[in-house]
Amino acid sequence: MTVADLVLHGARLLTLAPLKDERPRVGPAAGDVGAVMDGFVAVRDGAIVATGHGSVHGAIERVEGAIDVDVQGRVVMPGFVDPHTHLCYAGERWEEFATRKSGADYLAVLAAGGGIHATVRATRDASDDQLFALLMRRIADAAELGTTTIEVKSGYGLDPGEELRQLRLLARAKADAPIDVAVTYLAAHALPAPYTDDRKSFIREATKAVATVANESLAEAVDAFVEKGVFDVDDVRPLFAAAKKAGLAVTMHADQLNDVGASAFAARTHARSADHVAHASADGIRALARAEVPVVLLPGSAFFVGYPPPEARRFIAARVPVALASDHNPGTSPLEGMPTAIALGVTLCGLTPHEAIVAATINAAHALGRGGRVGALLAGRRADIVVLDTDDERELAYRMGAPLIAEVYSSGRRIA
Ligand code: NIG
Ligand code: FE
Repeated sequence: MTVADLVLHGARLLTLAPLKDERPRVGPAAGDVGAVMDGFVAVRDGAIVATGHGSVHGAIERVEGAIDVDVQGRVVMPGFVDPHTHLCYAGERWEEFATRKSGADYLAVLAAGGGIHATVRATRDASDDQLFALLMRRIADAAELGTTTIEVKSGYGLDPGEELRQLRLLARAKADAPIDVAVTYLAAHALPAPYTDDRKSFIREATKAVATVANESLAEAVDAFVEKGVFDVDDVRPLFAAAKKAGLAVTMHADQLNDVGASAFAARTHARSADHVAHASADGIRALARAEVPVVLLPGSAFFVGYPPPEARRFIAARVPVALASDHNPGTSPLEGMPTAIALGVTLCGLTPHEAIVAATINAAHALGRGGRVGALLAGRRADIVVLDTDDERELAYRMGAPLIAEVYSSGRRIA
């Protein structure tokens, strides 16, 4: 007998359930949201115990005090998975935003000691309490907008000691947050001044910290900004080799503004994901498809910086798994929440609304190595659920900025 403490019924249910295997959705299946009319989802102790349709839910026993809601006229879907953010920072970059909008180039601002370096200065100056409060507020804001799993990177330290401070604050945030937090050590985000002529030494120091990160379980993955004038593939090779050896996943900011061969490198490295990929070459895309490495498209940064966005159709046609993320950060993508990322994924990158929903749920879960745990509604998964105030989920892409997130459940607990 199935017993539940939460039942949502009468919904247009998007299950995103696995099709024939547990792999991410690709090609023609990339837009299959697994819609069920008059659907229900039943939950107990934080996990989904049953889904289905019609009056069958009536046979499910409810514990005393169970929440039992008729959500007719609404969409019920998995909570969003945001697989790429930089929430751990202090300070804003209004001035730089204005300068860039009047013509200054992003990489030129960075090379002149601004951009990422400006956020590094502000973040280093913030106390633990200040930074922790900022982190928790940003995680709560994301949760309000339907995110139930969020990746957060360090990366505004650029010095092993400061990076470790940020990672320890992230570990605290992970323990306290109402949603699941996947922490990444962004070891090579920019080259700080003391190392201007010595990238090798910088990478050596950043690589040394990998052992501490792994020993203290401070992060699940290691990331680097592989970009023209920042770090090239040869620079980051030892860093990623150390990460893999320590049992950590690798992921990268790949071919964001220029094609530097980072997508093919991500494929060779069997990265957990290759992110940005706006300038990935045809060869790079083929390599990603062969290695089944998901790409994480970040349309927010193309939108705010103004470079040509990644063309989603190239990846869908090549059967590369496509995920979407907010890339929330104070420099290139100050946007809030996955609904905005979904809308931009459609308008800028050319995903269909349903492909964007797949990209923001099950495929994003795969991009974080959580494809078997979240991103879909079926028995055994964590009960991370969003109720939309609409009967057509495509509205997420169409009515950009509309308040469509009616209810959010994280592990079966209502959090928004
Ligand atoms: O994903 N491009 C590298 N990293 C971030 C931006 C960081 C910043 O400008 O503060 C990104 O776009
Ligand atoms: Fe990023």
